[in-house]
Amino acid sequence: MTKEEKYETLLAQVKAFADAENDGIALMANVAAIIHETMDFWWTGFYRVVGQELVLGPFQGPVACTRIAFGRGVCGTSWKEKRTIVVDDVEQFKGHIACSSASKSEIVVPIFSNDEVVAVLDIDSEKLATFDDTDKKYLEKITTLYLSPKSTFLR
Ligand code: SME
Repeated sequence: MTKEEKYETLLAQVKAFADAENDGIALMANVAAIIHETMDFWWTGFYRVVGQELVLGPFQGPVACTRIAFGRGVCGTSWKEKRTIVVDDVEQFKGHIACSSASKSEIVVPIFSNDEVVAVLDIDSEKLATFDDTDKKYLEKITTLYLSPKSTFLR
């Protein structure tokens, strides 16, 4: 299967779960599992905005940092700049937070509620330059179509 075909399969699965579940945490948990298993990523998970910090939410993969300040690391920068950030080589990203030395590249996609970031989807790879415009397109589709509408339940 091509990357596009994997994402198309995954989108249908995410839609089915989103249609059936209104609880944001339960939905994030299954979305993390669906993305992680289908795409075979190294770490896939969510951080929720709680006050002035991002707090670790549902994820798949090794243990991770639990709290990230506004503007810190790739996740905190995505929150601050309200945009998806793709990092080909995390060692070249100033301020990258290394939860593990195994992580080499990363993508972070913000989740919005009325133009405010309420959570981020963070995915890490053990290989350099894993994420491209295809990942950005499909992951933004997932967050926009299926997670943002449940965003009042993410808090
Ligand atoms: N590397 C992230 C921190 C989260 S972990 O990768 C799971 C960052 O710089 O924000």
